[in-house]
Amino acid sequence: MNYHSPVLLKESIDALAIKEDGVYVDVTFGGGGHSREILSRLGENGRLFGFDQDPDALENVIDDARFTLIPENFRYISRFLRFNGVKKVDGVLADLGVSSHQFDEGERGFSTRFDGDLDMRMNQKSKISAKEVIGSYSEEKLAEILFLYGELRNSRNIAKTIVEKRQEEKIETSFQLKEAYKNIYRMR
Ligand SMILES: C[S@@+](CC[C@H](N)C(=O)[O-])C[C@H]1O[C@@H](n2cnc3c(N)ncnc32)[C@H](O)[C@@H]1O
Repeated sequence: MNYHSPVLLKESIDALAIKEDGVYVDVTFGGGGHSREILSRLGENGRLFGFDQDPDALENVIDDARFTLIPENFRYISRFLRFNGVKKVDGVLADLGVSSHQFDEGERGFSTRFDGDLDMRMNQKSKISAKEVIGSYSEEKLAEILFLYGELRNSRNIAKTIVEKRQEEKIETSFQLKEAYKNIYRMR
């Protein structure tokens, strides 16, 4: 199965203007498509560090002496680069968002196409899943999250609907959540 097809592959790596012996960081390693392209342009003294907080991405690790995969949130980038003896980098690539792998695995809870546990943790080591957020956060807090991170203009309406629905039954799967707001959004 294809883990993820990298977008704007050539354009984004061209923009990095790779120096053969440079040090680069791909902070969203995913399926490694962008990383492979960076490695193909590096010389033997170049270095590439990849970050991904999703343990599934580890399956795509690239067997190359110039490459190091760090299975962590890239918010810790300076700490981990320091740990690896890197003081300065020549370029950083961030292909932000979710990978198609995360959408295609129903049990991850990201997709409205498949029914699955409402998990939605990108890092499965993190403690809180979407199920707990949907089941326990106040209407105000839910509206704030949907507005800030989902950029949904009708966040208050959705939060109200979720809270009403969860009083009837626990919302624990992606299809239950989809059902809860079907009158607000027409979804496939
Ligand atoms: C769009 S995909 C990247 C795909 C990748 N460029 C490729 O060629 O396959 C985004 C990836 O970033 C990871 N990710 C998102 N936020 C992250 C974060 N804060 N720290 C580390 N990884 C993150 C996701 O787990 C996902 O695998």
